[in-house]
Amino acid sequence: MDTGKTYEVKNLSHASQGRNNMELAELNMGALLEVRKRFEKEKPLKGIRVGLALHVTKETGVLVRTLIAGGADVAITGCNPLSTQDDVAAALADEGVKIWAYKGETTEDYYRYITNVIETQPNITIDDGCDLVSEIHKNHPDLISNIICGCEETTTGIIRLRAMEKDSALKYPMIAVNDNKTKHLVDNYYGTGQSTVDGILRATNMLYSGKTFVVFGYGSCGKGVAQRAKGLGSNVVVTEVDSFRALQAAYDGFRVMKTADAVKIGDVFCTVTGNKHAISLDMMKEMKHGAILANSGHFDIELDLKSLNEAASAHKQVRPFMAEYTLNGKKIFVLGDGRLINLAAGEGHPSEVMSTSFCGQALSCEYGVKNQGQMPIKVIQIPEEIDDEIAALQLTAMGIEIDEMTAEQVEYLNSWQEGT
Ligand SMILES: NC(=O)c1ccc[n+]([C@@H]2O[C@H](COP(=O)([O-])OP(=O)(O)OC[C@H]3O[C@@H](n4cnc5c(N)ncnc54)[C@H](O)[C@@H]3O)[C@@H](O)[C@H]2O)c1
Repeated sequence: MDTGKTYEVKNLSHASQGRNNMELAELNMGALLEVRKRFEKEKPLKGIRVGLALHVTKETGVLVRTLIAGGADVAITGCNPLSTQDDVAAALADEGVKIWAYKGETTEDYYRYITNVIETQPNITIDDGCDLVSEIHKNHPDLISNIICGCEETTTGIIRLRAMEKDSALKYPMIAVNDNKTKHLVDNYYGTGQSTVDGILRATNMLYSGKTFVVFGYGSCGKGVAQRAKGLGSNVVVTEVDSFRALQAAYDGFRVMKTADAVKIGDVFCTVTGNKHAISLDMMKEMKHGAILANSGHFDIELDLKSLNEAASAHKQVRPFMAEYTLNGKKIFVLGDGRLINLAAGEGHPSEVMSTSFCGQALSCEYGVKNQGQMPIKVIQIPEEIDDEIAALQLTAMGIEIDEMTAEQVEYLNSWQEGT
């Protein structure tokens, strides 16, 4: 481990590889680069300390550079023990960013690093999963008066924040970046879809064609995973607890069934529910010899691995990110310790989708500063015009032009008098 006053990363000598990866990411993050260009001129975050707990990937590196271009003083750690890209962490440390993160963090280091970020006394928090906000509220409430707002990246984080709001425990305004169209309908769907299928492939090198692939949860992420697995030739089965989502899956052409039935026929199982024990030990016992289990939901709670570890008669790591368990004489395989497989075994979302997600983060920080003291202490969203501006920026970066309505069309859509 390389340690300095403002960093702790695996190996500083990997910084040049991290810089190369960030440069590659920037090629496909045109919208965020446009925001950065404006930030460089206007410095909307001048004097603002931003504390982040985000997956430390090359795309996050591009966000960090954008916030710094806007005048922010940035401190960052990871938001999952297995998702840090060590070369990117090294590059950021080398650029002078305060950073504490490595891939494979112990739980103790994970929380020690969050505390390091908190001790920089951020004015804005950026979180992916709500651990930073939750630690501040639980252990550092004295710092809350300095905090303008927080920005949350993922569905699970929003669920936790809404629970805090309901309990009257939330003490500063939170911007639900996940709820932007340009986030959950892009990143969760296209991003998680492709990168989850990729993570499972990198861990196993299996053939998707002909496999029965069971997706647990048909939300934004589940829809993307199901489509991509189908595209590679799998027979996709969906399980749900929500009638409407189950109906959508059925109308999208997937077989929808009860988990009790799906576990008997599946070859590969992937959870994206954000819910605890979507796959229980009893379900695992019903699975076929050779079944593969993965999770791409935020926390490692979707597969009941504690019970599996207790019940299995043998357990060994057969290759990186692939563990074999012997359960009732059958072998089943768990990928990436049940942590989000796209970041554990893969590199997370492609840069293109993170461009719009992270425009949401950067512009939410700017919105927070502009509206300091005027936002309610609730989970809120940025105005839709900003969300639309993000989509327009990415389209421009991709060289795509669209039409504008004529004056007659604008008038028609704003009137009610004209019928058949
Ligand atoms: N891997 C990644 O990079 C990544 C990216 C974005 C979001 N996420 C995480 O993925 C998870 C899902 O996100 P989302 O945006 O799709 O959420 P969502 O709320 O849109 O969808 C979750 C779906 O799971 C269903 N569900 C809940 N419990 C279930 C159960 N026991 N069995 C079957 N279905 C169940 C819900 O009814 C819902 O339709 C969250 O934890 C989110 O934070 C991960």
